[in-house]
Amino acid sequence: MKTLGIETSCDETAIAIYDSNKGIIGESIHSQMDMHAEYGGVVPELASRDHCLKIIDVLKGALGEHSLNSIDQIAYTSGPGLLGALLIGESFAQGLSSALEVPLIPINHLEGHLMSPMMEFPEISMPFICFLVSGGHSMIVDVKEKGSYEILGQSQDDAVGEAFDKVGKLLGLPYPGGPHIEKLASKGNSEAYNFPRPMIHSNNLDMSLSGLKTAVLYTVQKIEDLNEAIKADIAASFQKAVTDLLIAKITKAIEQTNHSDVILAGGVAANKYIREEFKKLEGILNIKVYYPDLKYCGDNAAMIAFVGSMTNPPKDQNIKSNVRARWPLDELKK
Ligand code: KG4
Ligand code: ZN
Repeated sequence: MKTLGIETSCDETAIAIYDSNKGIIGESIHSQMDMHAEYGGVVPELASRDHCLKIIDVLKGALGEHSLNSIDQIAYTSGPGLLGALLIGESFAQGLSSALEVPLIPINHLEGHLMSPMMEFPEISMPFICFLVSGGHSMIVDVKEKGSYEILGQSQDDAVGEAFDKVGKLLGLPYPGGPHIEKLASKGNSEAYNFPRPMIHSNNLDMSLSGLKTAVLYTVQKIEDLNEAIKADIAASFQKAVTDLLIAKITKAIEQTNHSDVILAGGVAANKYIREEFKKLEGILNIKVYYPDLKYCGDNAAMIAFVGSMTNPPKDQNIKSNVRARWPLDELKK
């Protein structure tokens, strides 16, 4: 069974083919990151237009030698995300499904992030905990079984990736700031600034990041000569504060659930310092920590094709729009 997955929820146009016997057999991605960088963030209208321009080439890239006629079903991201961008992927998916006369399966983007590590690490078994840290979401999810997800805690304000990007802006780094902060932090002293770790001691698994970002803002405002060495110290201290917060919350989540498999997913999971600190928990808490390959941390279509392969197509295959800008994970039906 071959599932073609389509992802256009934000600024990546991505298509992949998942074969139930062989795994991913084709994938292609076009990132719009450089286009949005000049505006310091994703411009929704530009994103939609670019998806439209690139999606045919991305499909050709994913197919490679494979024939379109060999595809058994089409899965696509129908939310959450930018509405215009989602509509491009949905229309394209609907066109393909109708032309090929194959089933169409709308997929929740967050479910893609949660479940895709199972594609890379078949030894992972449910239930497990997934810490999803991206530009739009920061949540600890109890993945009980396919389709049954309980959000144990989440950011009350900025997402972790968003905080990285905002601090990147304060330090004059290009968008998105996350990878640049990581690079700069490797040259800095993480003890140089004692930034707050908001809600680190709260009894629940919720987090707050905006106070930390504001603390960095006030620090930067007081510095007259914001040279490279100081920027590196700020980046390292900020990265450490975020990591301490994430480690405290995931530790609490493990104690609360007793689950022994932990998955770090989403764009921020590409951060090597955070990965290493999470990995250390294996020895301390007697758990296994997994994180996706770097190319599957950020948005990709492999995760959509994979979840599509595990999802029954809706009985109602009438062409109608399923896209939604907001789609809480705990409202998913089995
Ligand atoms: O999952 P993703 O590609 O897109 C969504 O938000 O859905 O995540 C993008 C976020 C951005 O905020 C980016 O700065 C952050 O992930 N990011 C990182 C790193 N690489 C990407 N944050 C910290 N360290 C990194 N190495
Ligand atoms: Zn994402």
